[in-house]
Amino acid sequence: MAKKERINFSKIGAIAAATGSAVGLGNILRFPYLLGESGGGAFLLVYILCVVFLGLPVMISEFSIGRMAQANAAGSFRTLAPKSKWWLVGLMGVISAFLILGFYVVVSGWTLEYIVQALSNKFANASTAQLNQVFTDFSTNTYRPVGWMLLFTALTCFIIIAGVKNGIEKSTKLMMPLLFLIIIILGIRSITLPTGTEGLKFLFKADFGKINSEVILSAMGQAFFSLSLGMGCMITYGSYINKDNNLSSTALQVTIFDMLVAVLASIAIFPAVFSFGINPAQGPELVFITLPNIFSRLHGGYIWAVMFFVLLALASLTSTISLLEVIVAFLTEELHISRAKAAIVSSLGIALLGILSSFSLGIWKDFSLFGYGFFALFDSITSKILMPVGGIFISLFVGWRIDKQKILLELSSNGKYKIPFLNIFLLITRYLAPLAILLVLLNQLGLTKWLGF
Ligand code: PFF
Repeated sequence: MAKKERINFSKIGAIAAATGSAVGLGNILRFPYLLGESGGGAFLLVYILCVVFLGLPVMISEFSIGRMAQANAAGSFRTLAPKSKWWLVGLMGVISAFLILGFYVVVSGWTLEYIVQALSNKFANASTAQLNQVFTDFSTNTYRPVGWMLLFTALTCFIIIAGVKNGIEKSTKLMMPLLFLIIIILGIRSITLPTGTEGLKFLFKADFGKINSEVILSAMGQAFFSLSLGMGCMITYGSYINKDNNLSSTALQVTIFDMLVAVLASIAIFPAVFSFGINPAQGPELVFITLPNIFSRLHGGYIWAVMFFVLLALASLTSTISLLEVIVAFLTEELHISRAKAAIVSSLGIALLGILSSFSLGIWKDFSLFGYGFFALFDSITSKILMPVGGIFISLFVGWRIDKQKILLELSSNGKYKIPFLNIFLLITRYLAPLAILLVLLNQLGLTKWLGF
């Protein structure tokens, strides 16, 4: 019996969907802070090296696995390495996706609250202390963040139910150009502030004195999270890439776009922060307290605030749909349940984790498991353990398990494209990537110090 043709993204659709997955809270909430804190231009250089020598090859590996097997994350490993335990790597990815969503949807929900606050001009004339209070009151509130989180999860579920073409491809083709437009406008606005160039100088001035092994490892970890690697997301999306498309150039474009947004977000945020002499805070505070503070003092602050939080919501949504697709593709193909049912059941599970995460910042603040509240627990398990472990096995799988000839055929679309870098690619997937990621893993588990690094 002929196998049913798998649904394919169009060429632009594949880039929009994968870039949508990569560009997310990691680019806007975390990268700018890392850049400002860890040596500016020097950090950027280290980050670019990590992306080129680690991120890009692992993304190409994930795309190849998915497209070769034409299946979900776990099914791909089963198809390519039958009667082995490799499928567990894919299953681990599905579990990662579930846990990442468990905290990611909470912050995604906050973006909706802040769009509403921006629209109702809540930041105007508010003092720093007031904005601080607003954020603390909101994020520790029992019901309000949960309400937004549920809405965000429902939105994600709705797009996934609409399908790979009509849901994922259509929505990301619409949202990604809008996202780029907004971030470019915000970047220009920031540079043209009176002290904009000074802010830029601070941001990009290369301070190599700040580069140490800790910073290098955190750049690698950031590259991994930002490019959605190590958990089957790019395997699942790779399975929808058309057989005629050039996998390596698709991956290259996605990585470039992802870096571009991270740098543009830094440009949009930092010069503005410095123009007002405010101390840059880390992560959520930077975006949910410092930025509203700036918007409140800026001419036309209302419109900038609205644009910024819409940007954040779009970036989150295109990432959450990619995460949910990992789970839904797995459930529909492995357990043979309908797409709608799979999306609804997994969304209910995610909502439950989301409630635990949200409560752990408020009423359950004092409850901890292994020393972490639920929010921090889901974040730590995935980014510190599951994603690096997944990345190591994915590289080893492509480097050692799959036949070299088969990889060449996949990467070249059966000879259509030239792949002059095959040997370097294999060298990286066999040795460099697994070893480098192992170091990240050991470092995150606090074992590098113990080993005397
Ligand atoms: N890459 C996203 C970000 O930078 O926010 C997060 C993410 C999305 C991680 C999808 C993993 C994933 F599968």
